[in-house]
Amino acid sequence: MQIRNTSKGYGSVAIAFHWTMAVLMIGLFAVGKYMTGLDPTAPDTFAIYQWHKSFGFLVLGLAALRLVWRFANPSPALPKEMPAYQRTAAHLGHAGLYALLFALPISGWLMVSASPWGIPTVLFNVIPVPHLPVPEMLGTKAQAENLFKEVHELLGFALLALFVAHVAAALKHHFINRDAVFKRMISTAPARAETPRRS
Ligand code: HEM
Ligand code: HEM
Repeated sequence: MQIRNTSKGYGSVAIAFHWTMAVLMIGLFAVGKYMTGLDPTAPDTFAIYQWHKSFGFLVLGLAALRLVWRFANPSPALPKEMPAYQRTAAHLGHAGLYALLFALPISGWLMVSASPWGIPTVLFNVIPVPHLPVPEMLGTKAQAENLFKEVHELLGFALLALFVAHVAAALKHHFINRDAVFKRMISTAPARAETPRRS
């Protein structure tokens, strides 16, 4: 089992992080959009918001672990024939996606911390999360809550835009360039190709 990345591909831990978090982010985006259209007084609405918050915090925890793992491992090199502008776009796109893995949950956390309703956050009905301090210069609690709500929504659009470009790039690598970029995010075979075979 190839646990660590090599210069040729991703190891199983990076692949597991990628797909677990991709599913969580797509799910959170969809649930976020869905739940804002619900009747706020309906009994299920409260529960759905709590699930959104719990899974959002799960993303924040995983993002921290993933970043540590990323810096403790080599980054697979991009194909040599890729033009410089595409390399820059790939690095900026990945940096942007990493940033959103932190910025989305933190903006959500700030939003619920600023809310005049003061609704507690209890992850998966088990772990209580304290509210963050919100600077007074942001105005009343309701004003600060609205500000972070806007920020959270805008970051959601940024996620959608980067996600579309990211998936389009992955498909282009696979079907047009026919290189290993997509394959190495679904299998550790490219990573293993670098190291001597172990039985
Ligand atoms: C980590 C990934 C997260 C993603 C991708 C995400 C995504 C979204 C999206 C797309 C919306 C709908 C925004 C709109 O159209 O107005 C939303 C709403 C919301 N999110 Fe998140 N969210 C995340 C994490 C969190 C966290 C950690 C919290 C709180 C601790 C949170 C709290 C909320 C709340 C309270 C709303 C409703 C805002 C309103 O009533 O307008 N989210 N989220
Ligand atoms: C179905 C959807 C997705 C596909 C097909 C996909 C595909 C890929 C592929 C092929 C790579 C490897 C690029 C390389 O080797 O240089 C990659 C990397 C990456 N993806 Fe995705 N991805 C998807 C969804 C997401 C989502 C939703 C996020 C985050 C919100 C995300 C974040 C990242 C990040 C941060 C990297 C860089 C990993 C690293 O080098 O540490 N991906 N993705």
